[in-house]
Amino acid sequence: MPLCRSHPEAALKRAYSGWMLGTDRLVLRQWTDADREPFALMGADPEVMRFFPSRLTEEQSDAFVDRASLHIAKHGWGLWVVEREGEFLGFCGLSVPKFEADFLPGVEIGWRFAQHAWGKGSATEAARAALAYAFDVLALPEVLSFTTVCNTRSRAVMERLGMRHVQNFDHPNIEPRHPQRPHVLYSVSRPSG
Ligand SMILES: CC(C)(COP(=O)(O)OP(=O)(O)OC[C@H]1O[C@@H](n2cnc3c(N)ncnc32)[C@H](O)[C@@H]1OP(=O)(O)O)[C@@H](O)C(=O)NCCC(=O)NCCS
Repeated sequence: MPLCRSHPEAALKRAYSGWMLGTDRLVLRQWTDADREPFALMGADPEVMRFFPSRLTEEQSDAFVDRASLHIAKHGWGLWVVEREGEFLGFCGLSVPKFEADFLPGVEIGWRFAQHAWGKGSATEAARAALAYAFDVLALPEVLSFTTVCNTRSRAVMERLGMRHVQNFDHPNIEPRHPQRPHVLYSVSRPSG
């Protein structure tokens, strides 16, 4: 399968044809059954899931993998597995939020990594490749991202990507008065030229 090792546009375009993106250190790819176990461990880790309403049961974790994998199979893009030297680190990629909000419809960029992968720049590096795909291949005019207000690590990724804070909103799928209901919305526009 094609794999590029840096960001130049031509190399990225070659990589896109195999539903796989590459960066200097990482591969973003379709899910396999071997990813189910490390993903379930991640979803059961309270620190990884600190800013989500709850941790994932094994069934929820498998259902997430099924959905993410089906989306990539159908569209060629989505929430890709991120691996480094064959090791599962987490996921990063693009998705279409299903809830109703005044800033939707749109395409969101998101990420979730196992703790051992934090603090190495992996999320930002993977997200840059996903953003390049969104702008160069899908030709999207804009990409959104959102998280709960207190998720400073995730907000820092958004800011490193050059995304700007647009507004705060209450996530409609999180119950009123839940501490994680207040969210921040970030956005980045397709570079001109
Ligand atoms: C959000 C999340 C992906 C951010 O991970 P992260 O490791 O902080 O972000 P990055 O991978 O971009 O790494 C940046 C850090 O790596 C450091 N770093 C180390 N080596 C680096 C390198 N070679 N290149 C770039 N940065 C490097 C940076 O200095 C930065 O450190 P800092 O946090 O002390 O400032 C991670 O915390 C996570 O998965 N959280 C749980 C899930 C979650 O909340 N997801 C978001 C829901 S919306």
